[in-house]
This record gives sequence, structure tokens and C-alpha cells, in this order.
Amino acid sequence: MDMGGMDMGGMDMGGVSNPRAEGMPVLPEGQPLRELPRLANQSGEVGLFRANLAAEPAIVRFAEGLDTRVLLYNGGNPVIEAREGDRIEIDFRNGIPDQPTTVHWHGMPVPADQDGNPTVPVAAGASQRYVFDLPQGSAAPYWFHPHPHGHTAEQVYRGLAGIFLVKPEKDPIPAEYGDTILMFTDLRLAADGSIPENGMMDRMNGRVGDHVLVNGEKNPVLAVAKGEKRRLRLFNATNARFLRLNFENASMVLIGTDGGLLEAPVALDELLLAPAERAELVVAFDQPGPAKLTTLDYERGWMGPGKPEEAGMTLLTANISDSPAPAMPALPAKLREIAPLPAPVKSRRFVLSESMSGMSMAFQINGASFDMNRIDEVMKRGDVELWEIVNKADMDHPFHVHGTQFQIVEYEKDGKVTKAPYRSWKDTVNVVSGQTVRFLIRQDMPGQRMYHCHILEHEDLGMMGLLDVQA
Ligand code: C2O
Ligand code: CU
Ligand code: CU
Repeated sequence: MDMGGMDMGGMDMGGVSNPRAEGMPVLPEGQPLRELPRLANQSGEVGLFRANLAAEPAIVRFAEGLDTRVLLYNGGNPVIEAREGDRIEIDFRNGIPDQPTTVHWHGMPVPADQDGNPTVPVAAGASQRYVFDLPQGSAAPYWFHPHPHGHTAEQVYRGLAGIFLVKPEKDPIPAEYGDTILMFTDLRLAADGSIPENGMMDRMNGRVGDHVLVNGEKNPVLAVAKGEKRRLRLFNATNARFLRLNFENASMVLIGTDGGLLEAPVALDELLLAPAERAELVVAFDQPGPAKLTTLDYERGWMGPGKPEEAGMTLLTANISDSPAPAMPALPAKLREIAPLPAPVKSRRFVLSESMSGMSMAFQINGASFDMNRIDEVMKRGDVELWEIVNKADMDHPFHVHGTQFQIVEYEKDGKVTKAPYRSWKDTVNVVSGQTVRFLIRQDMPGQRMYHCHILEHEDLGMMGLLDVQA
């Protein structure tokens, strides 16, 4: 990237990899892993989940003696847990004093007008009821977050995000493995405990904070017994941080992706979790501990000096007790069937690019920035299409589509085609700089859907398009 003449916002160019807050407070480490609060079901009816949800300012104490003003849902990052077939009714109130917001149900098969699109904002102080049904076969680890035009990145880095677990009728993963949520967020904290606003480097690269938190804590401790297997559900709820993960002293098996379980487990040495992606793992703690979930170096493309995704950060420590765990049932060799999507009736191409526009960068799809009043693509409901995402930019962009899950077919880079190693359901796929990703996609509900880069600063800058799905 040619940085010629660009205003770097007065930042120190000498070695600092990303705009760190000065006099960065120290966060306590080593507390027991916290469970995220559950959003209680207020309905007494079987098959109906009803609750109130409010986005509101709150004060959190991340560091000793410092109050941090954040935005939270009902005072936290709640987990909604429901079952396939359930009806969901969420009475939402926007308690953010000065901004519109929405609740977007990331990855979920929700009707377009209930999906918290930027085209359906909830004004400050206003309320909105979101109603949708969870179809059979939709069990997966989803999440939800704000999606107001131009304010998504800010509202997420100030704290707004939650988990939406849809459980199946019958779960093939042994209950003995438990079900542990690990929600990754990325915090930048100034010396006075405040959360600094995005600067120019943040808007270009996506905001990368100073502290990766798991369920709101830095490097918390998970207590396990020797020989224990744990089901871990990982959520990358950061604005822009690529998490290339390694579990030292433990073995990882991938059992699921954004859209639910794989057909069969896949052993992993490491896992790349791009912004908005989820992964379900079974981790076996057979070695003497501790076992650490750490980051590896990742080259995702970065404008300016240094790079943000440092290796060697410990995100979570599993303390392994010597007393052995009761015998664990084996993970089944077959988890479920994923029917392949049939041959596409049409293909469509999306070119991701970056360019200078005045003093800042423009991040575009097919040469255009997002315009709420322009439909970019028209697709027929029920049609299977082949989408080709071509990354002509200098950095990775995680591409996300609303309202459905897709199946990756292949990746192409420098003329070399690599088939997807296994079938899975995804709603976000990282497209490496210079790479082309092809996937099969179908939309089953009519209405307007967004597709965009899930580096939230890029989305806010317009790396997003509108898809009209016609009945
Ligand atoms: Cu996770 Cu358009 O969103
Ligand atoms: Cu989404
Ligand atoms: Cu991007």
C-alpha cells in the first residue's frame, strides 16, 4: 500500500504497531472463566421464547480503580438459548441516549424485516419487537449485534454483542463434554479507563484493541480434570481482530462452524477465526497442564507500521487437575448429514477493493460504496447460485451474507485451486488478499439482505451491498 501523502492522524510511526492507548491500564488475569448471563425466557408456553432486551449505557470495572463507560444488553453480553422449532419474540428497547441502533441476528434464518438491517433503525429511546421462527435444522452457534448505518463499529467496540445458541432436538455431542461459550472481544482502554474513539488507522485497518477478553475477562482460567474432553464454542465478536489460535498441551478437534455441526470431526493443529466467525471444538486435556489457548502470528495485511495480530498472547488458561476425570464417552465419528447444495443456476462475482478517496481510504465492493437507496443485486428466492468473492485489496476481508448459510466450494490463489476440505455451513468466510473464494448460496426468504466485510470499520465505510431477494 502506498502511504504517500496520507495523513496519519499524528500517530507515532516509530515501531508502534497499532494505536495503543497511552499509559495502558493493566487488567487482572487468572480469574475463573465467567459464564455469560442467560437471557431468561419469560414465556410459560412450550415452543415460545419471549424476553425483553435493552441496549443501554453501563459502567464496568475492567481495571482496578477505573470506571469504564460501556454499552451493554441488559447490563451484559447475554446468551439467548432456544430450540429448533421455537418462536422467538424479543421486545427490544434502544436505551442509547444519542444514536439509533438495531439488533441483527447474525447468521440466522430470520425474515428480512426482522433482521435488524440498517434500513430498519430503532431510534434512540424507541422500541421494536423482533419476531421470528427457528426452522428445523437451524441448530448452530449464532450471535447478535447492532447494525445501525455508520455506527456499527462503535456500538460493538463499546460492548454491544450477545450469543444466540439454537439447540437441536437431539445433540450428537456427549453431554459429558459440557457446553462452554468463549466469546472473544477486543478492548482498548485509555489511562483514565475510558474507551477511546476510532482514529484514522482504526478506520483503515479495522480497530484492533489492546486486550483480547474471553467472556469479558483477560486470560481467565478454566478448571478441567486430566483426561477430560470439553465442548468449546468460540465466537469472534471483535471488530477486526484475526485470531489464529493454538491450544498448547491439549488437542483440538473441530466439530462445527458458523452454521452448526460438521458431518464428521476434523483434527486441528491450529484454528484461524476471522472477525464474526464461530467454531465449535472438542478439546481433550490428556497432558499434564496447564494448557494455554494462545495466538499465533497472522499476516492479514495492515496499512502502516507493524502489525496487530501478535503471536504468543495467552487468551485462556486451562488448569488441569491431577485427579483424573471420569471416563469420557468417545466423540461419534459421524455428527450429522449436510446435504450438498445442488448445481447453481447462476453465478455472481463480487470484487473487493480498496482505494484512496481524498484523505481517507475507500473500501468497496464491485467499485461501489454502500448506498441504502441502491439495490446492488437481485436474486430469486430458492435459487442456488455460485458466488465468487475476489479480493483485489492488500488485506484480508471477511465476507458475510445475511439471512442464510452457504457452502464453500473452493479457494483460488495465484492460479492454484484448492477444494474445500469438508462440507460445512458458513455465513462468514475470510477472503485472503489476492484470493478468490467460491461458495454455493441460496436464500429461502424474500426481502432485502446485506452482504459486507465483517471488519466493522470497513462495513461502516461502505464495504457493503444490498441484495434484493425476490419471491
Ligand atoms: Cu454480523 Cu451484517 O453482520
Ligand atoms: Cu449478519
Ligand atoms: Cu474489510
